Amino acid sequence: MDWHYPRQHHYPGCCRRVWYQRVPHRTYDVPLTAIAVPHDSVSLAEGQRLVGVYHCASCHASKYEGREFLNVPNVARLIAPNLTAKLPDYSDAELVRLVRHAVKRDGSNAWMFASGMYTPITDADLGKMIGYLRTLKPVQGPDLGSNSYGPIGRALVVAGQFPIMAEAIDHTTVSPLGQDTTLVGRGKYLTMTACSGCHGGPELKGDPDPHMKSPALIIATAYKPDAFRHFLQTGEGGLTKKDCGMMSVMCREHFNNLTDRESDAIYAYLQTLPNGQVASK
Ligand code: HEC
Ligand code: HEC
Repeated sequence: MDWHYPRQHHYPGCCRRVWYQRVPHRTYDVPLTAIAVPHDSVSLAEGQRLVGVYHCASCHASKYEGREFLNVPNVARLIAPNLTAKLPDYSDAELVRLVRHAVKRDGSNAWMFASGMYTPITDADLGKMIGYLRTLKPVQGPDLGSNSYGPIGRALVVAGQFPIMAEAIDHTTVSPLGQDTTLVGRGKYLTMTACSGCHGGPELKGDPDPHMKSPALIIATAYKPDAFRHFLQTGEGGLTKKDCGMMSVMCREHFNNLTDRESDAIYAYLQTLPNGQVASK
């Protein structure tokens, strides 16, 4: 079976009015699947490392206490909520559905939820992550209120400019990405699940959005292997500048959890990208 990375759908005009009114509250009927969640100490340590690589804290704040994720007048205000308060309400299977399918416990779409890149994460990896997340102690976070959606935000959604991941993700096929254990295969899996959301989706062509401005990942071919590993694990030694801003923060706080083999795998995979991609900046 072929697995397709989420793509945005276009809505026929006749549906738009209905959409315009209902979009933020629409629910999706994606079945729950149980996966094994281990709680032994080795698995918990690995789960903690993986939660680091998959950088849940980059959006949910360093102690998972939650923060305002987006606030654009008339578009939307979105909260990445306090995970230590949300998780106890979620069953393991509901958490699997959220992480893979961007469907919240109440059946609605999870907005801006890591851009759908987590779908291919394997049962084994996700099980360990959930095991670790279950160990988080409740943390008092700021009072953030709730999401709100403005008229421009609704219009953008209708125009297909604001992805609805719960719709774009293929819920019926299991991604084969995690099964390829060769170095390049591991690298592709990690790149798609941990990097693609900020680097322009599965084609890795970079994201020109002014809030992101990330280069095409073909840029990795300009690094020496050791320099790439050093960059990913420390945020130092970027090619274009000394401090690579958001990316350097990601490296220091999250990608420092990558093992040497994983960094090397990502590097190896990025060397196989087709030529002709140009960094978007
Ligand atoms: C790119 C930013 C981002 C990343 C990375 C991210 N989240 Fe979130 N998360 C959000 C946002 C934004 C929401 C709120 C979505 C909404 O309310 O529609 C959210 C909501 C949630 C919720 C609550 C859903 C609900 O019912 O209200 C949980 C649980 C959650 N995330 C878990 C995780 C886990 C686990 C990870 C790491 C594997 C993660 N998130 C990574 C942005 C992110
Ligand atoms: C949260 C968003 C985000 C994620 C996730 C992310 N990146 Fe980046 N990345 C950026 C941004 C933004 C830049 C541009 C930084 C700048 O030039 O200031 C960047 C730049 C880079 C660069 C170029 C640095 C240079 O030499 O100029 C490389 C290489 C890179 N990222 C690799 C990766 C890899 C590999 C992953 C996954 C392990 C990844 N990124 C995940 C946002 C992200």
